[in-house]
Amino acid sequence: MLIKSKPSISEHEITDPLIFSQRRQIIKAFAATTLASATGIGKVFAGETNDNRLTTTPAEVVKNYTNYYEFSFNKQDSTKLAQALPIDPWNIEISGEVERPMRLNLEQLLKQQTIQDYVYRFRCVEAWSMVVPWQGFQLVNLLKLVKPLSSARYVKFTTLFNPQAMPNQLTSSSLDWPYTEGLRIDEATHPLTILAVGMYGESLPKQNGAPLRLIVPWKYGFKSIKAIVKIELLKDQPNTAWNQAAPNEYGFYANVNPAVAHPRWSQHSERVLGSSFFTARRETELFNGYGEQVADLYRDMDLRRFI
Ligand code: MTE
Repeated sequence: MLIKSKPSISEHEITDPLIFSQRRQIIKAFAATTLASATGIGKVFAGETNDNRLTTTPAEVVKNYTNYYEFSFNKQDSTKLAQALPIDPWNIEISGEVERPMRLNLEQLLKQQTIQDYVYRFRCVEAWSMVVPWQGFQLVNLLKLVKPLSSARYVKFTTLFNPQAMPNQLTSSSLDWPYTEGLRIDEATHPLTILAVGMYGESLPKQNGAPLRLIVPWKYGFKSIKAIVKIELLKDQPNTAWNQAAPNEYGFYANVNPAVAHPRWSQHSERVLGSSFFTARRETELFNGYGEQVADLYRDMDLRRFI
């Protein structure tokens, strides 16, 4: 399957040359992990580009600069501390407004999905960005299995609650734990919305949300919730961790939008992770550059009001 995104990214641009030349070995290694053993490996996302400045962020940068507040508010510490998280076995519950609620483990879930590559821009609300080759599957393909009822208008996602392994769940009151996020059903079933189980051709590192995380490339990064254990289909818009903590700073929609400043900083431009000190900041694009695919979802909405 070919996922088209505009501005899209050509294979030679998005793939780290080393990874590209070693692709066969990486596929073998990925397929050998328990996560991927029962699944197929899809094609690298390929397309044309109209943005020659874009290159894949080096994997080491993405792995060592993480936001994972259950562990730490410091981006290097969260990377180290997340290594203690037990992720095998991993159970997931899918429930709520559905005909066939499910409780299954990750291996069972992955047997029903085909793993594909999705190379996406990722824009944090803190005004930094990266380009990451994820491996995963479209969320819609999981939701179909539980047969959503017509009353299902929203989807809520919940991170694991394990205060022994995730120290801030005990000691920090800055968020209401466990971390939660939510999407409208049309956003959740959009073909760009994926659940990722890998990146750079390997299983997802713990600090980047292993074993299962959401990726919604046209929204600020905090929507892309890590270590998901529960997916609920709901009638009403759910409360979400950041929206509850600071509703005027972190909206439920959180669509990337350079025209709407965060109350404490501009969203006009972004620092590109992995670029040199002298590289110019990148101008942020509405919907993070995915407007052609997603703008229609918001055609009747005032994007200044529904942040
Ligand atoms: N999910 C959970 N459970 N906990 C978190 O702290 N941080 C969010 C999001 N998902 C976060 C989370 C934020 S603020 C961002 S920018 C991205 O994860 C960062 O993803 P990365 O660390 O893989 O770059």
